[in-house]
Amino acid sequence: MNVGIIGAGSMGSGIAQVAATAGEEVMVFDTNSSAIDKAGASLNKVFARLVEKNKYTQEEADDILGRITFVDSLELLENSDLIIEAIIENLDIKQSVFTQLEEIVSEDCIIASNTSSLSIASISSACKHPERVIGIHFFNPAPLMKLVEIIPSITTNEAVTKKAKATIDSWKKVTALVKDTPGFIVNRVARPFYGEALRIYEEGVADFVTIDAAMKEIGGFRMGPFELMDYIGNDVNYTVTETVFTSFYFDPRYKPSFTQKRFAEAGLLGRKTGKGFYDYSEQAISPKPSEDKELKQLIFDRILAMLINEAVDAVFWQVASAEDIDLAMRFGTNYPKGLLAWCDEIGANKPLSILENLYQTYGEDRYRPSSLLRKMAKENASFF
Ligand SMILES: NC(=O)c1ccc[n+]([C@@H]2O[C@H](COP(=O)([O-])OP(=O)(O)OC[C@H]3O[C@@H](n4cnc5c(N)ncnc54)[C@H](O)[C@@H]3O)[C@@H](O)[C@H]2O)c1
Repeated sequence: MNVGIIGAGSMGSGIAQVAATAGEEVMVFDTNSSAIDKAGASLNKVFARLVEKNKYTQEEADDILGRITFVDSLELLENSDLIIEAIIENLDIKQSVFTQLEEIVSEDCIIASNTSSLSIASISSACKHPERVIGIHFFNPAPLMKLVEIIPSITTNEAVTKKAKATIDSWKKVTALVKDTPGFIVNRVARPFYGEALRIYEEGVADFVTIDAAMKEIGGFRMGPFELMDYIGNDVNYTVTETVFTSFYFDPRYKPSFTQKRFAEAGLLGRKTGKGFYDYSEQAISPKPSEDKELKQLIFDRILAMLINEAVDAVFWQVASAEDIDLAMRFGTNYPKGLLAWCDEIGANKPLSILENLYQTYGEDRYRPSSLLRKMAKENASFF
């Protein structure tokens, strides 16, 4: 298959690597020649390392790299069967690229966007054939993250959805089919991991390191919320939260935190700036978490209840199937378990009573339990 990639930034070059590794012929276009040079050099470096680690022979690496061509003209993508756009997150620019592409490629070419926050409906509305437009959302870094969300819009043809999903499955990725809704699965369902942790900190219940320890020690999460926000970058993570909050008509469940906003404004972005919630300098002294087991249990229960509620609510609103929501959270964020399987394990009653308590205490809509969670608890039902 001929795959065209628009944008040679971090996502575009990662997706090119995935497709070429799966045996596809890949052409990458970018308007910026220095981005092309950088992507080419970084792919060479990646494969040199993979050969060094004996993941590939030199011949295999050369074959894969030989299947990636960088081009400086969009017209050269005319023979593409699938195009994945991974350019700047701007609706007008994306629409203009999609319109140009339609003049170049054949009628059967699927045109996909890797957008994280724009609706597929809005991008495809600029096209003559919106039925061939779909969202194919990779996670960063694309070669390492297994999950890809497949997002048909209301105008996408079913055959296009099937073909897009089968293609990405054949690239050895885990695909989750999701409705064209803000944050898709992962960026929506994961919000409380950050938001509730920040809120617990803001209320003075515990410090960063204790909240992180609670999630890691009790829940088996690989990283605590504050470590993860530092890893993602407080600027990036804050913007995702704000976008989801705005897109959901200011639903208080997704309300961004002033604490994180101030960290972002102060340039305390996390690992990339050497300092965020934690100090990453060599002389830094690692803070110690509290030894209070009860406190940590309280923190863990509260964050997990919020996460489960979010996952259950996504099932309720038919954002995706229960299976795909759990796959997405395991492979898109590396959670130790699917949240719905976790709900089955502890019983829907547990998160429900925690949320009802929080709702009683604060009187805030933020803590309203999903009606499906109530139903599951009442019927003692399970998802799987
Ligand atoms: N970075 C992430 O974590 C991540 C994860 C998932 C999805 N995404 C989405 O992927 C897309 C790209 O993100 P990124 O982080 O790779 O960005 P990036 O800034 O690293 O790369 C974008 C590239 O697009 C090029 N570009 C801009 N306008 C163009 C045009 N009109 N035609 C061709 N090339 C153009 C730029 O020169 C740049 O090289 C965005 O839609 C983003 O929301 C990003």
